[in-house]
Amino acid sequence: MGQLDGNVAIVTGSAGAGIGQATARLFAREGASVVVTDVHPARTQRVAGMLSEELGRELLAVPADVSDRASVEALVQTTLDRYGRIDVLVNNAYRDIECTVAEMTDEIWHAVVDVCLLGTFYCTRAVLPAMMQQRSGSIINLASIVAWNAESAPRRAHYAAAKAGIQGFTRALAMEVGAHNIRANVARLGAERLDQAHAAGDGGAHGRAAPAGTGRGAGGDRERDPVPGERAGALYHRRGVVDRRAEGLRHSP
Ligand SMILES: NC(=O)c1ccc[n+]([C@@H]2O[C@H](COP(=O)([O-])OP(=O)(O)OC[C@H]3O[C@@H](n4cnc5c(N)ncnc54)[C@H](O)[C@@H]3O)[C@@H](O)[C@H]2O)c1
Repeated sequence: MGQLDGNVAIVTGSAGAGIGQATARLFAREGASVVVTDVHPARTQRVAGMLSEELGRELLAVPADVSDRASVEALVQTTLDRYGRIDVLVNNAYRDIECTVAEMTDEIWHAVVDVCLLGTFYCTRAVLPAMMQQRSGSIINLASIVAWNAESAPRRAHYAAAKAGIQGFTRALAMEVGAHNIRANVARLGAERLDQAHAAGDGGAHGRAAPAGTGRGAGGDRERDPVPGERAGALYHRRGVVDRRAEGLRHSP
């Protein structure tokens, strides 16, 4: 018996080498039906296939660009067609382009902010009708300490702005959806390796702490240290972000 038996979870950006993939693995291991989704179709298929083989249960691969509304709506519809419900959304996808503000083009700004912030909004909005109908759900958004500590990742004003926005968005969201028995939490990650994870404290909607991350950067194609799934998922278990029994984290309006 896993803690997530019977749950259906979408984890965006889960075909990279980091937290997204580790989260997908952990949730599937705990019994959830997991949708692996990423902007790279081939990698999405490959990672879903790899995890399916590793865990002996099928993980659905649905390539999607979170910054594209139609793509997100198709992702959610495909999930509903397949499983009939959505219990957990993890807004993990992100892009990281190092650039000073003085040199930042509109394109660079949008490339980062649209994946992180607009993507979080698109995915959240798209799953809400199903969660509201079910009268249950958990939305987990990924923020970053960079929003408050620029020294930890210089030349990332766009990323800092997006992650600070995600924190505010999640608080506001939690206020709205609590009455529908839906939880919204934000995990504010540091830039440490996951195997040095520690509780960092969180100003989010309800989350209290976060696991640390691995090395910087997404886009996912570069080699990085492997991320232990247990560490990546420690937040969800320790803080009960996903567990339906975690009454303390449910927002009461
Ligand atoms: N790694 C860290 O040290 C750290 C620190 C603070 C916060 N975080 C946050 O944790 C999350 C995961 O970080 P990670 O480094 O483990 O990355 P990750 O390995 O989970 O990769 C993120 C994925 O997002 C995907 N992606 C990029 N653009 C996309 C789009 N338009 N649509 C869908 N997917 C897209 C990439 O292809 C990549 O696979 C991010 O939200 C990040 O901001 C990480």
